[in-house]
Amino acid sequence: ETIDASGLHVLPGAIDVHVHVREPGFSHKETWTSATQAAAVGGVTTVFDMPNTNPPTASVAALAQKHAIAARQAIVDYGLYGLIGEHNLDQLGDMAAAGAASFKLYMGSENPLVPCPPDGAIVEAFEILARLSIRCTVHAENTPLLTWRGERLRAAGRTDAAAHLEQHIDLAAVEAVSRTAVFAAWTGAKVHIAHESTRHSLPHIRFAKARGVDLTVETCPHYLLLSTEDGARLGDTFMRVKPPVREPGHAGPLWEALLDGTIDILSTDHAPHLRSEKTREVIWDCAPGFPGVETSMPLMLTEVSRGRLTLGRYVGMACEAPARAFGLWPRKGTLAIGADADIVLVDMARSGRITADGLHSIGNATPFEGFAVQGMPVRTLVRGRTVALDGRPVGSPGWGRPVSVSRS
Ligand code: NCD
Ligand code: ZN
Ligand code: ZN
Repeated sequence: ETIDASGLHVLPGAIDVHVHVREPGFSHKETWTSATQAAAVGGVTTVFDMPNTNPPTASVAALAQKHAIAARQAIVDYGLYGLIGEHNLDQLGDMAAAGAASFKLYMGSENPLVPCPPDGAIVEAFEILARLSIRCTVHAENTPLLTWRGERLRAAGRTDAAAHLEQHIDLAAVEAVSRTAVFAAWTGAKVHIAHESTRHSLPHIRFAKARGVDLTVETCPHYLLLSTEDGARLGDTFMRVKPPVREPGHAGPLWEALLDGTIDILSTDHAPHLRSEKTREVIWDCAPGFPGVETSMPLMLTEVSRGRLTLGRYVGMACEAPARAFGLWPRKGTLAIGADADIVLVDMARSGRITADGLHSIGNATPFEGFAVQGMPVRTLVRGRTVALDGRPVGSPGWGRPVSVSRS
C-alpha cells in the first residue's frame, strides 16, 4: 500500500478514554462495529468502553462476554472498563487480572443498572485499586442530592430544561469532585475525573494536584464549545447530557484549564442515543448524551485553525495525556502515542459540515448539527493498516485488539 501524504499532517491516533459502545444490551443505539467505525473515521485509534451496559461490566463473566463481542466487531483497539458496584469489591482484582483496563465509579447516575456505592465502599474500592495501581475514572456528581432535587422538581410539575439544570446544579459536581480528591489523597488511589463541566471545580482540582494527589481530569468538546444558549437553537431536550452543558461563562475557564494542564485529557463521553429517544416533550424522558468520537477531532482541529491551540497541544491532550494516565506503554520506555503505527493523517485545508446523517454512529443526534469545520482526519491507521479513508470506514471487523496496560 503506497500512501501519498503530501500536504497532510501526520499525528498519533487519538485515544478516547470515555466511550459508551452500548453492547451488550443496547444494540439499537450503537454496536461495537458502528462505534469503532465512527472512531476510525474520527481519527481515534483506541477507545475505552464504559461499563453501563446490560449486563453491566461488573463481574469477570460480564467482562469476558464483552471481550468476546468486541473481538468479533472492533476495527480500532479498545480497553474495557470494569464497574465498581457496592457488591463486587471482592471481584475487582480478578477483573483486573482478566484484562479490565480501568474501572469506573458512578457517583452520579439515575440508572438502576449502575447504582452509586456508599462512601465507605468508594473508599474501599480506592484502596483496592491503589494496591493494584489501576486508575479509577469517576462520574463525579452527588447522587443523593441529584435524586432528591429531581424528585422535588418532578413533583412540582417542572418539565423544562431549567429544571434539568437545577437538578444537576454544578455544586453537585463540585462537591463530588472534591470528595473524590479527598478519598484519593486518603487512599493513594490514582483517580480520573470524567467530563469536567464547571469552572467551579477547577480550584478544587488545582488544590488536589498541588497536594500531590494523582488526579487526572478530562473535559469534552461540548463543554468547551457550547453553552445553555445553544439550547434555543437545538431544542433543550436534544442537548440534554450529564453533567449538563452549563451557562455561558464556564467554557472560557475550562479552555484555560485545558491549556495550562489543570485539565489533562480531551475525551468525548460518546453516548449515542436515537434521535427519537432525545426528542420527547418532557426533558426527564429524554436520554442524556450524544455521539462524540467522530466529531471531536474535526471540531478541535477547527479551533487549531482559529489559533486557539497548537496542533502539538492538541496531540498532548488527545493522545499523550490519555496514554500516560492509563498506562499505555506497549513496550518498555515507549508511550503508546503513534506506537505500532496507530496514526492519523490530517488535512488542515479540508473543510466540511457536521450533520447527524453523516455520522457512522447509530446514535443519530448531535448538538453540533450544522457546525462548519476546518481541518479533518482523512486517513486512520491502526497497527499500520488503514481503517478509515476519506470519511469512510474500510477496516474489517475484528482487526481491533484489547490494549494492555502497564501497572507501575
Ligand atoms: C451517559 C450514557 O448515556 O451512558 N450519558 C450522559 O449523559 N453522559 C451516562 C453517563 O456517563 O452518565
Ligand atoms: Zn458520566
Ligand atoms: Zn459517560
